[in-house]
Amino acid sequence: MALIKTPKQIQALREGGKILANAMAVLIDAVRPGMTTNDLDALFVKTIQQHGAESSFLGYRGYPKSICTSINDEVVHAIPGKRVIAEGDILSLDCGVRFKGFCTDMARTIPVGIITAEAQKLIRITEESLRLGVQELVPDNTIGDIGAAIQTYVEAENFSVVRVLVGHGVGEDVHEEPQVPNYGQPHTGPRLAAGMVLAIEPMVNIGSARVVFEDDGWTVRTFDGTLSAHFEDTIVITERGPEILTQQ
Ligand code: MF3
Ligand code: CO
Repeated sequence: MALIKTPKQIQALREGGKILANAMAVLIDAVRPGMTTNDLDALFVKTIQQHGAESSFLGYRGYPKSICTSINDEVVHAIPGKRVIAEGDILSLDCGVRFKGFCTDMARTIPVGIITAEAQKLIRITEESLRLGVQELVPDNTIGDIGAAIQTYVEAENFSVVRVLVGHGVGEDVHEEPQVPNYGQPHTGPRLAAGMVLAIEPMVNIGSARVVFEDDGWTVRTFDGTLSAHFEDTIVITERGPEILTQQ
């Protein structure tokens, strides 16, 4: 069962979420063909340090960098390096900060220059599926309501939802209970309550939902080579519904 956060803890998460959303905006603004994914990792670290936050990913289960930079058929957790970002790519930026002891998580997929109409549609549908999932974050709904909202919408557009990776509770740890699948049945699973903080993160593929794990121990890629998009926000459930913490 998810931990219920205190008002003071939620305030720390709110401050960290704002720092994270600002840093994400800085990264999105900076992306250009010809940059390396290492350049973005360095820019993220510099930006959050100015606000007294640190990466929550660096060192997590041995993860060697501060953000994840997944390109095209890479679904999530691709490690920044010397790879050059190219015109026509879609780039998923997945970032997390720890501030005053509390973690927030956020991801956005963005176009690099001109991309295909199908890639644009993938990004639009994935972002909208996150919004629909977040709408379900009201007390007395269930975890299954979130996944059902995301899955129903994505599959009606003939895309697929990745199943082997899920959203999660977040707080003092990067990943806390409960798991939040991006698929499921309404009115099933753990019940939601005010004070729970969840990271909702649909990963959507144009083709099959099947993914493969690379030999580097981190990078997740689509099995069939089709494009994948990823959007994530950290949200606190209040009596009045969802409050997105990862916003400027
Ligand atoms: N946002 C990522 C997730 O929830 C966190 C990745 S941690 C890292 O899966 F160590 F892989 F970077
Ligand atoms: Co996450």
